[in-house]
Amino acid sequence: MTQALAERLAGVVGPDHVLVDPAVVEGYVRDWTGRWRGDCALVVRPADEGQTAAVLAEVAAAGLRVVVQGGNTGLVAGGVPEAGDVLLSTTRLTRIGPVNPVAGTVVAEAGVTLAALQDFLRPHGLELPVDLAARESCTVGGMAATNAGGIRVLQQGMMRSQVLSVDALTVDGRPLVRMHPLVKDNTGYSLSALLVGSEGTLGVITRLLLRVVARSASRAVVLLGLPGVQAAVDVLAEMRVRVPQLRAAELVDDACLRLVLAATGEPDPLPRRHPAHLVLELADGPAGLDRLLTALAGAGVTDDPLIDLAAADDAAGVRRLWGYRDRITESVSAFGVPHKFDLSVPAARTAEFVERCGALVREWPTRDPLSGRSPRPFFFGHLGDGNVHVNILDADPRDDALDDAVLTLAAQHDGSISAEHGIGRAKAHLLRLNRTGDEVAAMLAVKRALDPDGRLGRALLPFDGARRPG
Ligand code: FAD
Ligand code: MLT
Ligand code: ZN
Repeated sequence: MTQALAERLAGVVGPDHVLVDPAVVEGYVRDWTGRWRGDCALVVRPADEGQTAAVLAEVAAAGLRVVVQGGNTGLVAGGVPEAGDVLLSTTRLTRIGPVNPVAGTVVAEAGVTLAALQDFLRPHGLELPVDLAARESCTVGGMAATNAGGIRVLQQGMMRSQVLSVDALTVDGRPLVRMHPLVKDNTGYSLSALLVGSEGTLGVITRLLLRVVARSASRAVVLLGLPGVQAAVDVLAEMRVRVPQLRAAELVDDACLRLVLAATGEPDPLPRRHPAHLVLELADGPAGLDRLLTALAGAGVTDDPLIDLAAADDAAGVRRLWGYRDRITESVSAFGVPHKFDLSVPAARTAEFVERCGALVREWPTRDPLSGRSPRPFFFGHLGDGNVHVNILDADPRDDALDDAVLTLAAQHDGSISAEHGIGRAKAHLLRLNRTGDEVAAMLAVKRALDPDGRLGRALLPFDGARRPG
């Protein structure tokens, strides 16, 4: 069956774009963290929407399951296929344009990376107002499918706020949604909005109409060293009121900073160690920095003997200070295979959650079988959105009970088990921690309406019993 299908698909996309060699396929069946590994029958890479539709029709005729993959930077194994699945890679859907400066929109195919889109928009003085450290590899289709957040949600919202409309296909290759090139269009249900955050389970997004904003030529950044997470929450509360134009407010705990220093060889940004750090950003280099420092002085931060501060308003300095936050994910992975969480908790409970979660991890009874060490927690994230990332090193990668304990603790703190990465396959069995039975039933009804045979994707809903990949 697979050989015959491979030949038919090669007739659609060309033989170079149907991959069956296990050594090549390996890169598509293992997730970015290295914790999850699946399998698949073949990888197919269509070059445009017509080919994508034809590929989906062929796979439907063969009765196989399809998993869509963009840059494979997802952190919850949503793009990890199982044996016998066809993996549809969007990486050749890379056309961009037109840009509409009056409407503030751009059209991009699903496989365009975030970095390529920003490069395209730069000469127009525009940018997509979503930024994340996976920018070189993650695709706009994957970002929409996961409703990615990143470091600018505070001011600009998540991908849901940027996706105005999409072109999408059903699992058997029929048109599902047609792009409407308008900023405002309330004609009935927004099927485009439904696909945002659907994690590749309802339709295959092939093209997007995205909201873009004026790109600020320069930025100002302040990195504060603080006595704890609660102090970071308190400073943020002041800064939100004093600086309404605040673009980012990111938390970095001491363990994360030490890890980044060890992985990158960068010097310590501050003269002393602090339990927590807050990275704040404003647009407009020197003027922005002036506003930030005035506001921090007004809030009593600059005079506080327990607080240290580093600041930059030039491009190189801004890049250097952001590096301490931006490079946490790669630094964590440099030291092992992490357990990763993207939780959100109410601001008032953030410090309490971090303390309890830290204790839970440090007292966890199992160890990493390879290193023999006990689990170590790292806390960072998008504090302005209440989004705390918990990463754990030196835990047994197969110890799913640790994941369940951390996620249950978040739910007990009135939090969400997924602030931004999605449910994927990693958390599908825990959906009920945050959603009622009625809500899950409604989600399943939508799924059945759009994909009655359950052949599209393996993420999100425990359609056939959630299974841990790999
Ligand atoms: P993939 O990993 O390929 O796929 C992700 C999911 O989307 C899968 O379920 C897949 O089936 C589905 N999918 C992909 N393309 C399509 C399509 N065209 N149509 C339908 N479904 C599709 N996330 C954040 O939200 N905020 C962050 O700050 C952030 N930082 C990150 C930093 C690093 C270093 C890394 C590695 C990841 C980070 N992420 C972050 C994770 C984030 O989910 C991804 O970076 C991005 O959104 C996924 O894009 P992708 O193209 O890699 O998708
Ligand atoms: C980030 O904000 O850097 C990523 O979403 C988090 C992660 O690597 O866990
Ligand atoms: Zn994040």
